[in-house]
Amino acid sequence: MLVSATEMLKKAKEGHYAVGQFNINNLEWTKSVLLTAQELNSPVILGVSEGAGKYMTGFKTVSAMVKAMDEELGITVPVALHLDHGTYEGCYKCIEAGFTSIMFDGSHYPIEENIEKTKELVSVAHHLGMSIEAEVGSIGGEEDGVVGAGECADPDECKAVADLGVDMLAAGIGNIHGKYPDNWAGLSFDTLDAIQQKTGIMPLVLHGGTGIPADMIKKAISLGVSKINVNTECQLSFQEATRKYIEEGKDQQGKGFDPRKLLAPGAEAIKATVKEKMELFGSVGKA
Ligand code: 13P
Repeated sequence: MLVSATEMLKKAKEGHYAVGQFNINNLEWTKSVLLTAQELNSPVILGVSEGAGKYMTGFKTVSAMVKAMDEELGITVPVALHLDHGTYEGCYKCIEAGFTSIMFDGSHYPIEENIEKTKELVSVAHHLGMSIEAEVGSIGGEEDGVVGAGECADPDECKAVADLGVDMLAAGIGNIHGKYPDNWAGLSFDTLDAIQQKTGIMPLVLHGGTGIPADMIKKAISLGVSKINVNTECQLSFQEATRKYIEEGKDQQGKGFDPRKLLAPGAEAIKATVKEKMELFGSVGKA
């Protein structure tokens, strides 16, 4: 059931768990995430970066595929189709394409400009019944060409953006896209706590979910994180399973070259990763 992310995140914040955002890349990815959410009776957010949208030939294709797949698979759990790290122009494209949720990442603008653009998009999104995520303080690392320095967000700036009426707020707290380096200092829980104090009931978003240890995830949820984004970890699971299939020579046995067979182990591996994350985030049975 395609919906905005507003209600599922409100419930998650009240119930002290987090909803997973899993980024999608193609049909197999989407199918694996949707089937796992349904099996576990969990709400879910499908994240689409601008790069992935382009790869899938455009946001209209993505929207049509997700809507049709949701229906054909008989998915009854709440599913939000969400733009990840959207530009100003990208947000309007997804609004037009029929997404149910957008993220406007204005973190690289001066705060006044971030506020101005976010405010405009909040009004447009809400008018159409869509949810919107904003960002303050950039997420470190690189994702599909979006590069961030990874500075911690200023709690006062977070409050100013939360007051615009966004449905969820991403705030940098030392998190990084992609794998964490060995010398990573960990999440800044002092920053997260200060942000939570200032923003109250606002569902907070933790980007860079790949590789954050379970105890840190649990602590982040206890301090107001209600949405956690995972991308790289599904890619690594898919890659590992596909490599194994080929290295074992299975693509050369019988009809093992059939793309439906070749991609099956990777698709199953994504399901296992999504299941593990939903269990850790506490969203199982919360649909
Ligand atoms: P990872 O790729 O590190 O899991 O981050 C995902 C993310 O934050 C998407 O915006």
